[in-house]
Amino acid sequence: MTKVALAGLGYWGPNLARNFDELAELRWLCDASPDALDRFAARYPRAQTTTDFDELLADDEIEAVVVATPAATHYELAKRALEAGKHVLVEKPPAMNAVEADDLVATAESADRVLMPGHLLLYHPAVQTVKGLVDAGDLGDVLCVYSNRQNLGRIRTDENALWSLGVHDLSVILYLLDEEPSEAWAHGNSFLTPGVEDVVFCYLRFPSGRIAHMHLSWLDPHKMRKITVVGKEKMVVFDDMELERKVTIYEKGPWQPTHTYGEWQTRTGDIFSPKIPSDEPLRLECRHFLSLVAGEGDATKVAQDGLAVVRVLEQLQASLVAAPA
Ligand SMILES: NC(=O)c1ccc[n+]([C@@H]2O[C@H](COP(=O)([O-])OP(=O)(O)OC[C@H]3O[C@@H](n4cnc5c(N)ncnc54)[C@H](O)[C@@H]3O)[C@@H](O)[C@H]2O)c1
Repeated sequence: MTKVALAGLGYWGPNLARNFDELAELRWLCDASPDALDRFAARYPRAQTTTDFDELLADDEIEAVVVATPAATHYELAKRALEAGKHVLVEKPPAMNAVEADDLVATAESADRVLMPGHLLLYHPAVQTVKGLVDAGDLGDVLCVYSNRQNLGRIRTDENALWSLGVHDLSVILYLLDEEPSEAWAHGNSFLTPGVEDVVFCYLRFPSGRIAHMHLSWLDPHKMRKITVVGKEKMVVFDDMELERKVTIYEKGPWQPTHTYGEWQTRTGDIFSPKIPSDEPLRLECRHFLSLVAGEGDATKVAQDGLAVVRVLEQLQASLVAAPA
């Protein structure tokens, strides 16, 4: 079994601890806070605890390090782990700018180690279903994609809605469309914490002409976790707030009857929901990481895809900052 160390036991880290304890050998738990370590030491008696990241890096038996600390620390911790010869699963985003993300990818490549960003949504069985529909051409030409990731809370003060929420949607949009945007614009505002945008609207345009939009907010009356893909033949919605109907396919679209001489009409057919497996996305993500560590699958692509997400986030952030107040 792969021997794993985990750094970061705040809100998200315990979910990773649970999965890696079941799927691998969780050998170390690390957190800057001794209180956090105390809370989890009893639950994972086989794991050693430390507040010192270097201590787990010095353990030669550790093959893989999982980083679930705040985003601003990801680059430094992931880089140190790669340089110590460990495979790394780093929570999203792997770095706060493209230069650092690029450096992580290069470090992983030269050390022949896995660098996998934790893009959780890519492992959601519903996203896999939507990707299957897009790639099989079932929707016809895909014209546009838009996402809604809104709620009242959880209000963050260390990263804005773009980096905290948008990173999920962006990873899915790039995955579905399989291209990087030629234009990326964001507008938003910081209403609660200066410099930390709570509400962000993003627009992306791709070389193929397809367009995308993201509405990201933790100041909203609706709890929405939704991605809509509009194809010329069919349209599909992934709604993660639905318990059973996670994916709905609409046989709706525009068409031009020959007798109307170019005038557009619309066509409405069946609406149906395929069965979506209920596997936990995080479990699938952790399994994928362990299989990459075992030498199965394309580790280079995973690292490069993570870099592409950071590149676009950086462009969006630049336009957000440049926008007049
Ligand atoms: N994939 C997802 O759906 C998802 C969901 C929530 C959070 N996250 C990501 O997980 C990461 C952590 O988020 P969170 O909400 O758990 O944050 P958090 O602030 O609740 O927890 C972070 C923990 O890291 C510890 N820490 C800080 N610096 C450290 C260091 N240098 N070494 C060791 N420990 C250190 C802190 O003491 C704290 O316990 C973020 O990158 C966030 O974006 C991902």
